[in-house]
Amino acid sequence: MPSQILLLRVIRWLAILALAALAGAWAWSLMAPRQPGREAAVLGGATLPPGVVIGGPFQLVDHNGQAVTEQTYAGTWRLMFFGFTHCPDVCPTELQRLATVLDSLGPRAQRVTPLFVSIDPERDTPSALSAYVELFDPRIVGLTGTPEQIAAVTRSFRVYSAKVPLDGGSYTMDHSAFVYLMRPDGSFGTLFPPDVPPERITAALVARIEEGG
Ligand code: NI
Repeated sequence: MPSQILLLRVIRWLAILALAALAGAWAWSLMAPRQPGREAAVLGGATLPPGVVIGGPFQLVDHNGQAVTEQTYAGTWRLMFFGFTHCPDVCPTELQRLATVLDSLGPRAQRVTPLFVSIDPERDTPSALSAYVELFDPRIVGLTGTPEQIAAVTRSFRVYSAKVPLDGGSYTMDHSAFVYLMRPDGSFGTLFPPDVPPERITAALVARIEEGG
């Protein structure tokens, strides 16, 4: 019915606008000239509004078909990105960015687990993910799961995603494209907007790793 479709469109646009506002705020805080106080606040994730929790426990399957949880990666910094292997441009760009970060970290990359979480479990089987992440960097771990498991993890990370039908019966996915930095204890560290230069992600990680985190 038209009114329901209109309502869905309004809800979708409100979600996109809310994410854009969040991205703008983070981009501003990350791009602003370096000031020791500001940098510390951003790196510590202290700018999250009170009561807002990002992340949490999850149950997924890695690209080798192994069941994993957030505990599987305990003790390492996690760079998490949510996307899908059929993505025409955003996901390849972001995964290339993560590969650049891993290269520039040198041996410190051993302290970091890069996770690519599928928002398209229907098509992103473990083997499809395995072939895909290999194109960018073999250190990147692809994660997928049942539709329910993916719905749960996207909810807890506040990821926006929506299926968009294409002519011919196929579909693509709309999705938010933040890079999440999670601490070794699994708690939220910080969030990078989609267009952040890889040097900023590397600098944030190096600062945290050398702090002894
Ligand atoms: Ni994408």
